[in-house]
Amino acid sequence: MKQYQEDHSPRRRLSGRPAGKLLMSLPLIGALGLAAGPQAVSADMLQRATEAGCMGCHFVDRDHPVGPSYQDVAERYRGQNVTDKLVAKVREGGSGEWGQQFMTPNAWVDDHFGEGTLESLVEWILSQ
Ligand code: HEC
Repeated sequence: MKQYQEDHSPRRRLSGRPAGKLLMSLPLIGALGLAAGPQAVSADMLQRATEAGCMGCHFVDRDHPVGPSYQDVAERYRGQNVTDKLVAKVREGGSGEWGQQFMTPNAWVDDHFGEGTLESLVEWILSQ
C-alpha cells in the first residue's frame, strides 16, 4: 500500500480530483485531522477502481449506462455478508442480477495490483 502511494502520488496531485480539493479547502485543522483518514482511503480506492477499469462501467452515485451505481449495490446488500460472493462475481464477471448487461471478468486486477485488491474494492463499494 505504501509502495502504491509513493508510486502514484505525483499523478494524483496533478489530477486535481474534487476529493483532493475538498480536503485541501477544509478550514479547520481539527476537522482535517478527523476527515483525513476515511477520505484519504476513499480517494485511494476511487483511484484504484479507475485504474482497474471499474469506472468505465460504474459510477459511484448514479447509474452508468452499463453497470449499477456503487451506492445501489451497497444499498441492495446492506447488512448481508456478501463480500466473498461479490468478489467472485467481479473476478469472473457475469450478468442477470441487475439486468442483461455483462460485466467482463476482472481476475487480471488481482494479478496486476496484488492479491486482495478486488476484495478491498468490493469492501469499498459496500461502504458507499
Ligand atoms: C464491462 C463493464 C464492467 C466493468 C469493467 C466492471 N463492471 Fe462491475 N458490473 C457491470 C455490470 C453490467 C454489472 C451488473 C451485472 C449483473 O447484472 O449481474 C456489474 C455489477 C457489479 C457488482 C454487483 C454484482 C452483483 O452480483 O450484484 C459489483 C460489486 C461490481 N460490478 C464491481 C466491479 C468492480 C470492482 C469492477 C472493477 C474491478 C467492475 N465492477 C468492473 C459491468 C462492469
